[in-house]
Amino acid sequence: MTQLLKGKKGIIFGALDEQSMAWKVAEKAYEEGATFVLSNAPIAMRMGEINKLSEKCNAPIIAADATSDEDLKVLFEKTLESSGGKIDFILHSIGMSPNVRKARPYTDLNYEYFHKTLDVSAMSLHRVLQTAFKMDAINEWGSVVALSYIAGQRVFPYYSDMAEAKAMLESVARSFGYHYGKAKNVRVNTVSQSPTFTTAGSGVPGFQEFFDYADSMSPLGNASADDLANFCVCLFSDYARMVTMQNLYHDGGFSSMGINVGMILPEK
Ligand SMILES: NC(=O)c1ccc[n+]([C@@H]2O[C@H](COP(=O)([O-])OP(=O)(O)OC[C@H]3O[C@@H](n4cnc5c(N)ncnc54)[C@H](O)[C@@H]3O)[C@@H](O)[C@H]2O)c1
Repeated sequence: MTQLLKGKKGIIFGALDEQSMAWKVAEKAYEEGATFVLSNAPIAMRMGEINKLSEKCNAPIIAADATSDEDLKVLFEKTLESSGGKIDFILHSIGMSPNVRKARPYTDLNYEYFHKTLDVSAMSLHRVLQTAFKMDAINEWGSVVALSYIAGQRVFPYYSDMAEAKAMLESVARSFGYHYGKAKNVRVNTVSQSPTFTTAGSGVPGFQEFFDYADSMSPLGNASADDLANFCVCLFSDYARMVTMQNLYHDGGFSSMGINVGMILPEK
């Protein structure tokens, strides 16, 4: 069988442990013939979990704090060197809110934390794209995917300032998608994923309820991390060549639902 990503090279940001969505994407991309560098914040390396993935996928690890322009520049330089040329895809799977971590209610946010949330979870996409753009690090028709959540459009009260981060992330993908598309035919999209049990996901208060509600509301149920990995591989591949500047819902239909009668009248 042909491998969808045979000959393609990339960078996958954000694999922390086996639950991470980036972890599943890495496994699938490897299976489909891609070669890539794994990157995460230096602090995340301390847990050492990523080494297992690195061995499994034969992928070097290069640490970079995605809020540091200097770290990103070095990461791209080393990646271009180790891959022997430009890359074809990037997965941005990075998110963190100190306000969520410290359980600050939305009406009592700490603004230093808010800055950090936006920097880590949204501006980092701009930094990654700008670094790649200036270094001309992505091949023509390359593909960049960042992971988002529907709280960028609708209210999920406990998602806190991550809602603003996701709205900004999606906007960066659209705006940079224009510039990168015009200049180099590089595609930039966000994928808005169902609630998924991961370190970042489970940090949101009431996550089990988020998960169960979305699962019951969606005609197909929640999309799993493995489903997401398949979709990302498809977006990295040449089969999604003309898709850019989109926020693509990967949520079993949740985003189009108004009411699911079965939830209130189980016999229907
Ligand atoms: N889990 C969900 O329910 C869900 C749903 C939709 C979207 N998402 C998004 O998916 C993405 C991945 O999250 P996940 O659920 O796999 O959880 P995760 O905790 O496994 O991944 C988050 C990653 O961000 C990395 N990170 C944090 N700060 C960083 C920094 N300064 N520089 C570089 N990396 C940094 C972490 O080390 C970690 O690897 C996030 O953007 C998240 O918001 C998650």
